[in-house]
Amino acid sequence: ETLGTEMEVAGVPLQAATVDNWSQIQNFEAKPDDLLICTYPKSGTTWIQEIVDMIEQDGDEVRCQRSIIQHRHPFIEWARPPQPSGVDRANAMPSPRTLRTHLSTALLPTSFWENHCKFLYVARNAKDCMVSYYHFQRMNQVLPEPGTWEEYFETFVNGKVAWGSWFDHVTGWWDVRDRHQVLFLFYEDIKRNPKQEIRKVMQFMGKDLGEAVLDKIVRETSFEKMKENPMTNRSTVPKSLMDQSISSFMRKGTVGDWKNHFTVAQNERFEKIYREKMQGSSIRFCAEL
Ligand code: A3P
Repeated sequence: ETLGTEMEVAGVPLQAATVDNWSQIQNFEAKPDDLLICTYPKSGTTWIQEIVDMIEQDGDEVRCQRSIIQHRHPFIEWARPPQPSGVDRANAMPSPRTLRTHLSTALLPTSFWENHCKFLYVARNAKDCMVSYYHFQRMNQVLPEPGTWEEYFETFVNGKVAWGSWFDHVTGWWDVRDRHQVLFLFYEDIKRNPKQEIRKVMQFMGKDLGEAVLDKIVRETSFEKMKENPMTNRSTVPKSLMDQSISSFMRKGTVGDWKNHFTVAQNERFEKIYREKMQGSSIRFCAEL
């Protein structure tokens, strides 16, 4: 039961098993044709994974549904003995590989930079991300209890959540986007115009699938479809890890749910903190559609 205990690496809280496995993770050998899906938690990781998977499978949803989504794109910092670690899974995989991480630029194994890999980053506005993470920590039995919403608000803005500060994460990845091969997408844009954003992903992956296939991918990766799909909705995860009677993994999938959680006073306080922490960054989010 060391799983729930969080430890820190360079001030970033990470799960104890990840910290135990840190040298293997840091020494991970990326390859030049690796594609790395990068997200802060609760920013649409599963969604972009399914989009990438559908593109990889040329829009064949049956091929996509052969395995549950967590296993298709190894999560490089994942470590939960006795299962193979994310690094072990990645090492056993044929190239070209699609891998996944929640690590910030500061913690990413350096071989990804050295090998000039492709990075697909999805960012989600901080307020909705915080709401989503709060509900996730309520149902996730291996992360710490989130406490009350008021308490969680403080925990989140102080970056005391697994994988650290949202602010550091998005600004860090935003800053490297011109120096590396980064396709930087926003959750809100995918929501507003899925076909346009999925086309960008397809082009970034060097594929050309045609309009009909793109339309199909849009349909198959909708929230409604993914909520019903046992390969994406985490219904295969045991209740001892995720208790979906508390909150579904596919919870709402909307932009602006923060308005149902933030009080006016919290919103004002958040805006002030946001201005301070994001000062100097040119990144712009939209938090409503
Ligand atoms: P909510 O909790 O706001 O509903 P991650 O995969 O990074 O853990 O992110 C989970 C969040 O993405 C959840 O947000 C989930 O509902 C949302 N999500 C998953 N699939 C989605 C889809 N197809 N369309 C929109 N949102 C989706």
